[in-house]
Amino acid sequence: MDILSSILTIPEVAGSPVGAEVYRGLTATPKRLSPWLFYDDAGSRLFEAITRLPEYYLTRTERGIFARYGEEILEYAGCASDSALTMIELGAGTAAKTGLLLRAAVHKQGAVHYIPIDVSETALAEAKRKLESEIAGVRVAPRVGDYTGGIAEIRCDEQRRMVLYIGSSIGNFEPEDATNVLCEVRRRLSPGDWLLLGADHVKDRQTLLRAYDDAAGITAEFNKNMLVRINRELGADFNPKLFRHRARWNEPESRIEIYLESVTAQTVRVPALDLEARFAAGETIHTENSYKFTAESIAEIVEPAGFRMERCWTDEHEWFGVYLAVSQ
Ligand code: AVJ
Repeated sequence: MDILSSILTIPEVAGSPVGAEVYRGLTATPKRLSPWLFYDDAGSRLFEAITRLPEYYLTRTERGIFARYGEEILEYAGCASDSALTMIELGAGTAAKTGLLLRAAVHKQGAVHYIPIDVSETALAEAKRKLESEIAGVRVAPRVGDYTGGIAEIRCDEQRRMVLYIGSSIGNFEPEDATNVLCEVRRRLSPGDWLLLGADHVKDRQTLLRAYDDAAGITAEFNKNMLVRINRELGADFNPKLFRHRARWNEPESRIEIYLESVTAQTVRVPALDLEARFAAGETIHTENSYKFTAESIAEIVEPAGFRMERCWTDEHEWFGVYLAVSQ
């Protein structure tokens, strides 16, 4: 469909980001929905629950790296009382793991200015309240917004900056898009500013699959919450019980793929989009890619964006990497 006819035929709600995304995704072949649709309030809570699951090693492993090497990372970045760093975090949420790095920064440089950026104002308010009450010397100045937009207005009184992009969020992007996102970040930095990037590593397929298909079914609920959200916001009549959560390891592409699979032939109505989506039995909606990296593959994303890779810190199994790169 060309642009003009799509404007003429899609109802007003399709002009909202959610409506437009759902219309595009459910009329595409194969069907797909973007992972950002996971994160309404319920979805953000379910993601927090995922980070505490025994199978979801990512959060715990990255936190362990920060606990063990936080001071070393900041030391490497030249953080000291006479050369303070400002910390900026993309997609900070409630900043659950960042406290470890901020504590290390306070220890090295006396006080630290921290700018968390996120689309959720409530998450940012919680981050500010917690961090300022728990760590003396941290000054939190949240920015609500999409991260490249938020980083644009940042002035930090001559201090060098360290941009934190942790939790392997970079893994949701196709490799070229990941480079483009980092390029947008780098264009707003000065030479010598730092990027600290958390990236989940390739490992055995059992461990990977379990992390995305846990025994308690929380990841399945997180995936199906997208349908619940579309029902609420667009008046759709998805029956989440008629979809199965599926996780698959795509080894050639080095990514976990997540799907919702229709258990039966069915038609779903989305009144706000004036749309009927027909599903064959076994037909899927692709809801997420989560790329897994090696030191080489992460360098191939970071370096074309105008950073030079400096160092990596990892855990005893090398399951997760924290990469420090410098802006050129
Ligand atoms: C937030 C994108 C890092 O890919 O592991 C967790 C999201 N999806 N379980 C990930 C997610 C299913 C998560 N990221």
